[in-house]
Amino acid sequence: MDIIYNEGAKQFHLCNEKISYILGIMPNGEPGQLYFGKRVADKDYSYLINKDFRAMMVGMPEDESFSLEFNRREYPSFGTSDLRLPAYELIYENGSHVSAFTYLSHEISKGKPKLHELPAVYTEDDDEAMTLSLKLKDELTGMELKLLYTILRDYPVIARSVLFENKGSEQVSLERCMSLSLDLPDHDYVWMQFSGAWAREKTPIEKKLDSGITAIGSLRGHSSANQNPFVIFKRPNTDEFQGEAFATALVYSGNFLTQAEVDTYGTLRVMTGIHPDRFSWELAPDESFQTPEALLVWSGDGLNDLSQSLHRLYRKRLCRGAWKEKERPILLNNWEATLMDFTEESVLKIAKKGQEAGVELFVLDDGWFGKRDDDFAGLGDWYVNTDKLPEGITGLAEKIHGMGMKFGLWFEPEMVNPDSDLYRANPDWVLAAPGRERSLGRHQMVLDMTKEEVQEYLYERMHAIISEAKIDYVKWDMNRTISECFSQGRPASEQGKTYHRYILAVYRLYERLIADFPELLFESCASGGSRLDAGMLYYAPQAWGSDDTDAVERLKIQYGTSYGYPISSIGAHVSECPNQQTGRTTSIDTRGNVSFFGTGGYELDLNKLSDGEFEEVKKQIEFLKKHRGLIQSGNFYRLLSPFKDNYCAWMVVSEDKSEAIFAYYRVLAEVNAGRRRVKLMGLDPDAKYTAGEGSFYGSELMNIGLEISAAPGNLEPLTGDFDSRIVVLRKG
Ligand code: GLA
Repeated sequence: MDIIYNEGAKQFHLCNEKISYILGIMPNGEPGQLYFGKRVADKDYSYLINKDFRAMMVGMPEDESFSLEFNRREYPSFGTSDLRLPAYELIYENGSHVSAFTYLSHEISKGKPKLHELPAVYTEDDDEAMTLSLKLKDELTGMELKLLYTILRDYPVIARSVLFENKGSEQVSLERCMSLSLDLPDHDYVWMQFSGAWAREKTPIEKKLDSGITAIGSLRGHSSANQNPFVIFKRPNTDEFQGEAFATALVYSGNFLTQAEVDTYGTLRVMTGIHPDRFSWELAPDESFQTPEALLVWSGDGLNDLSQSLHRLYRKRLCRGAWKEKERPILLNNWEATLMDFTEESVLKIAKKGQEAGVELFVLDDGWFGKRDDDFAGLGDWYVNTDKLPEGITGLAEKIHGMGMKFGLWFEPEMVNPDSDLYRANPDWVLAAPGRERSLGRHQMVLDMTKEEVQEYLYERMHAIISEAKIDYVKWDMNRTISECFSQGRPASEQGKTYHRYILAVYRLYERLIADFPELLFESCASGGSRLDAGMLYYAPQAWGSDDTDAVERLKIQYGTSYGYPISSIGAHVSECPNQQTGRTTSIDTRGNVSFFGTGGYELDLNKLSDGEFEEVKKQIEFLKKHRGLIQSGNFYRLLSPFKDNYCAWMVVSEDKSEAIFAYYRVLAEVNAGRRRVKLMGLDPDAKYTAGEGSFYGSELMNIGLEISAAPGNLEPLTGDFDSRIVVLRKG
């Protein structure tokens, strides 16, 4: 890894073993993008600055052959000779939106600087990364920009962020500030986004890029289930195991925009950052604004490799704390078993059966506080409901701990029901537009997290409950999108800051609790996967993948999520049948086999299972305890896509290739169908692996494959709808 500065050519070459990222100062003084992709040799690449076009718009009066119109820029403005969409927009006091930032100085340093109050990839040692900080200045106004680029030694990844500093004497309004902008010489890419809705998160959708703008974003106040701030750009011939692809990932959980513009010359401009709509940030002299971090990840070996790089990076250098690489506890959550209708006795009965099955963590979900018997009331009143729990959370937690299990608790700190003591006492604590109706979502409003007193109330309540009851795990939920985003009592000029300030306040509350309780495991949740994004993983290493717990639906949701996020981050549970969302009945085996490829857990009353099913659950828990280390830290391979096939298959392989687990699922039964083989991946070709009673060479499994329609390794053949099998492969 290195950052090579070529002083004569004014070029910077960021490289590690796999990738190169080259930028250079162009004749007009601003940085231009010269190359991003597979590692190339270092030399003077000035010829990549375009000067041989017939410019329609001239960028420099003294050189008519140079124009920004057809050059690739590192951090483009709008309104001079480049009229593509810009990375930033600043409005000056006189109303002008034209800026011209040019090179002022640069610094190359070891390591990676922290971003103030923002989640970001980190290093544990300065030798793991190098950072280029490029300072640009707008001579007319004194505004400065610091473009930060970090190259990581062990990952094909560039991390970027931008600092705006008002070093001038006038007030400036920042109206747009992407974290990353990347101009590429061609647009022969398929854009792959991960879209959905509540209970059907992260469906891959592909679009061939062509002239014009392709964009996704969120203006919902969270990253959302509808779109995710992670987009893949793959060459048309790229598949899971070969070909070039890169992806952008925004390490942020609020409103976002990811966009690709193909211009008239066929070049591509990609950008990602805070959504500029409803964003406006006044910068007085000496004030500054730091954008969230965006990651650029590259692979020459297909989508699986791209995903694996991100999985490793997130597991090792984005997730933090005691749990980041620890085997996650097998939990039992009471939500689908009881909803809010429970007593200490009924909850303990469920927990007791969990203990018998080998569960390690019991989680009490919604309904334990205030007058919370349904979702119309009580949210915000974080005081225990002693009608349900006479001995409080502390009493219940003691009993659960006494059973040898950890105890976890659900909170939805950011919300309030109008029917709550909190709202009655503090009606100005919610986000609400003056004089307008307030749109309710799930009968609740959103607290104005930007207010100090709101943060203090939530911190005090959560801190008190967590410390008194010695809570081991918190499920932090967020069950509606933000509407009427207006911070009561603040001036008009500050309203454009509200969305961003909101998410910063959420991060701050997390950070304070993490500092107080370093052993606490957080699972984030937003009606399922509405905030499963890279930003959240910095605080909570796992996230509830979806409120859809149906095993067949979960195949798609977990498969789709795996493109951008590690298996260890996806909350996945076995729930009751018929399934509460789909009405479908699947076997306890298949439900288990799907939940293994996530954090693993249960969300039902185990007392209601037949004896046979309960015995299966015990075996599943034993299996998970034995193999979760491999599942949660191994390399994950997608093999057959449930989006394209009646079958789904995936596998994990340990880092040293000595062990692997292969899982396959058939959605609907087939009669007299042809035989199906799946080629396995990532094994040692020369080693022999045992699978059940069978024995196979790695090369055999990867080239001939396993016949999943028959019975590999003497497993029972698949029968009926929704059947599945797990094959454990061991070297030797
Ligand atoms: C959301 C979550 C569920 C559950 C309920 C409780 O829907 O996604 O898992 O916690 O809230 O109200």
